[in-house]
Amino acid sequence: MIILLILALFVAVSFGLTAISAAPWVPLRKKDINALLKDLNLSHGKVFVELGSGDGRLLKAAGNTGAMVIGYELNAFLWLVSYFRLLGTPTAKVYLRNFWKRPLDKADCVMAFLVPRTMPRLAHKLGKEMQPGSRFISYVFALPGKDPAQKHRSWYIYDF
Ligand SMILES: C[S@@+](CC[C@H](N)C(=O)[O-])C[C@H]1O[C@@H](n2cnc3c(N)ncnc32)[C@H](O)[C@@H]1O
Repeated sequence: MIILLILALFVAVSFGLTAISAAPWVPLRKKDINALLKDLNLSHGKVFVELGSGDGRLLKAAGNTGAMVIGYELNAFLWLVSYFRLLGTPTAKVYLRNFWKRPLDKADCVMAFLVPRTMPRLAHKLGKEMQPGSRFISYVFALPGKDPAQKHRSWYIYDF
């Protein structure tokens, strides 16, 4: 009983913390994954970073392109799920980390699915850290103050 309570507390704290930090967990639609991969334009040697990588489905699919794939996830429960999901994908790694504190200057492509209130802070971070020639995709919500190169289905594509 105590173990169940501790487990429930662990899950509740994990989900609560991340909702406050940037966004609660809402998975992207499974049917969008292949189209997203095309727009990310990944290939061997490229570096892809997902900010708030959830259950790791996109990381796994991206890892299969041969690109070097990195996910940051602050929810310990989701991190664990994605850690096991990625065991057979050596090109993809997920870290239990706060993405606000991770640098993006080595990334060719970055993707995030956050909420409107965190988009201004994200736009500021990307503006400082994304390198010329890199690409950012925001699922559902637009970045304030920057025109997208393209809008495709329910995401915005930004070229830096
Ligand atoms: C809207 S969900 C998107 C999840 C993922 N794209 C998917 O399809 O499963 C946002 C994710 O960001 C995570 N998150 C929120 N704040 C974070 C932070 N500061 N650092 C790392 N991850 C964070 C949440 O736990 C959640 O998994």
